[in-house]
Amino acid sequence: MDDNTKTRARVVTPFGPRTTAAEVLAGVDLTGRRIIVTGGASGLGTETVRALVGAGAEVTVAIRRPAAADLVEEMSALPGSARVAPLDLSDLTSVAAFVADWRGAVDAVVANAGIMAVATRELTAQGWEAQLATNHLGHFALVTGLHDNLRAAGSARVVLVSSGAHLREPFDFTDPHFGERPYDRWSAYGQSKTATVLFAVGIANRWADEGIVANAANPGYILTNLQRHLDDETMRAFGVLDEAGNRVPLDYYKTPEQGASTSVLLAASPLVEGVTGRYFEDNQEAEVVPVPAEAEAGVAPHALDPAAAERLWVYSQQAVAA
Ligand SMILES: NC(=O)c1ccc[n+]([C@@H]2O[C@H](COP(=O)([O-])OP(=O)(O)OC[C@H]3O[C@@H](n4cnc5c(N)ncnc54)[C@H](OP(=O)(O)O)[C@@H]3O)[C@@H](O)[C@H]2O)c1
Repeated sequence: MDDNTKTRARVVTPFGPRTTAAEVLAGVDLTGRRIIVTGGASGLGTETVRALVGAGAEVTVAIRRPAAADLVEEMSALPGSARVAPLDLSDLTSVAAFVADWRGAVDAVVANAGIMAVATRELTAQGWEAQLATNHLGHFALVTGLHDNLRAAGSARVVLVSSGAHLREPFDFTDPHFGERPYDRWSAYGQSKTATVLFAVGIANRWADEGIVANAANPGYILTNLQRHLDDETMRAFGVLDEAGNRVPLDYYKTPEQGASTSVLLAASPLVEGVTGRYFEDNQEAEVVPVPAEAEAGVAPHALDPAAAERLWVYSQQAVAA
């Protein structure tokens, strides 16, 4: 963390944890803005797309399963437009094909797709641990592949959807894919979400002069398909599965519409124009907290460290180029 991070004023907005994505964009006109949302076929991604299209944006929903045709139909009554394009972030060939097919400027990328707590160490074709591959390296290849298109927008934004889980785990440059150390599903998820924050810091450091900003968003706790890798016992231990097998959100859990609001704020609200390299939750810039943290709130110094961000950039660049 640099001195600037310690002393600069925190960004605050009139919104809070219960604000919905649509409420964040009330009165905002996104007509003509071209925005890519990864993983837009479920959960927070769908609500992110809905709010952006609702404000007039042209949204490309980048998804690995074409079944989202329903989504396009669902959005057709809204002022903007949605189209679907294939993208599997765990497959560099797929990412390269998406980038090669893209024409023209991109006003924003919302790097929302993700997987959490994969039970055993799974490797992609590149030999990468699945969560790091999907949550960070695939998005790194996508966003850096679209660098010229982002620059062409004149004023573009990148939103990296992170998680409070980043507080658990700095990035381990010696063994990022758990080749030597024992695999732990939460460590792998936490590390991948630290990488997403560091990527925002890296973009802020490298691309600010080109009119491209990037920030990280922690959506909070929301019951979605993200919990698919957790068994019933774990879900019960978390208090979100009742004896009858029904999912029951705890009091502090958000709806998907609320969970998507911070992503939408960072992607399109004029309130954060020009803000870059920061971590937001509940629609506010988060406070830096010491780790280990008592709760999954705030942002860890290890995720804002510009030296780690630069090191991760070089590591990621070499990884996706190999
Ligand atoms: N829900 C929470 O409590 C919570 C908390 C903190 C952070 N987050 C973050 O919020 C983001 C959205 O999560 P969510 O809760 O909305 O979960 P979700 O409903 O499971 O959505 C995740 C999306 O990512 C897509 N995806 C997964 N692997 C992919 C790949 N290889 N290529 C392309 N797309 C892929 C999924 O596609 P398929 O449908 O094809 O699998 C799905 O549409 C994630 O980054 C997550 O880590 C969520």
